[in-house]
Amino acid sequence: MGVLFSSGDTKMTQTKGSYQFDRFQGDIQTQELQRLDYQSQILQGLEQKIWREAGLTPTMRVLDLGCGTGIISQAIAQSLTTGSIVGVDRSPTMVRAAQNHTREQKMTNLTFQVGSSEKLDLPSSSCDFVYARLLFQHLSEPQATLREIQRVLKPGGIICIVDVDNDWTMFHPPVPSINTFQQYITQIQQQQGGDPQVGRKLGGYLTTAGFAQIRTSIEIITSDYGQEGKGMGLRAFLDLFSFGAAFEHGNSDAFTLGMQAKADASKLLELPYAWAGFGLFIVKGVNLAVVGI
Ligand SMILES: C[S@@+](CC[C@H](N)C(=O)[O-])C[C@H]1O[C@@H](n2cnc3c(N)ncnc32)[C@H](O)[C@@H]1O
Repeated sequence: MGVLFSSGDTKMTQTKGSYQFDRFQGDIQTQELQRLDYQSQILQGLEQKIWREAGLTPTMRVLDLGCGTGIISQAIAQSLTTGSIVGVDRSPTMVRAAQNHTREQKMTNLTFQVGSSEKLDLPSSSCDFVYARLLFQHLSEPQATLREIQRVLKPGGIICIVDVDNDWTMFHPPVPSINTFQQYITQIQQQQGGDPQVGRKLGGYLTTAGFAQIRTSIEIITSDYGQEGKGMGLRAFLDLFSFGAAFEHGNSDAFTLGMQAKADASKLLELPYAWAGFGLFIVKGVNLAVVGI
């Protein structure tokens, strides 16, 4: 799922990492905003389970890092009583979308700001819980971000990272063009400094950074994953993937391969026995670092 978010411009140099939303153009931006909203909304039941199990409590001060359109930040804000949450994203367009989503709700415990994960405009030891969903796969220097997270987390504060690992995506019957597409854009994402196999590495990153009580778990999302007893269905599952729409203005090969994969995947909808699934990696750790010592 993760690499399907990336822009295909392999010559990006100005900004690091493999997700450069503000370089997507026109319709692609709109489609991507809608897809991120959809992805957050359809998986919200699972999200709540993830925060609860990671140790989020209603009085915490939370940072949603790489918050995108802010749907998840908003859901976390609703679960807080005296706590509060700030969503940070480096894309001004994303932050504007997040602010627009929440304007009508007039939520007093939720704010958004533009910022980079490597240099946050937040005081040291100011957060109890840092959440980073589908961000780390795009970071060229994950350790720099982890150092900054350690700075803003209080001692004993919790980090919870949710991300993908490409090898944990499967379709039955197999769709060879999806494999071809994934292999191709894996290379592109790696050239841009991202890592579509980041899931399996996150626990090690936290260990190296000095976090404690590290635990990696994997939630399997399937085409029969259900919300309130209703199955997601294969069509909804496929809608979670962008199939390279974001490549249209970047890399035409990737876009062509993506469109082929999408067309082939949609043929599965005609097969009553077709099934699909992917593994979502969830990695938790506790901050031991005391800033300034
Ligand atoms: C795939 S989107 C995920 C958004 C959101 N967390 C979600 O789950 O819907 C990745 C987001 O991370 C942001 N991003 C990428 N690199 C970043 C960085 N170094 N610092 C802050 N935000 C970053 C992008 O602008 C984008 O909004």
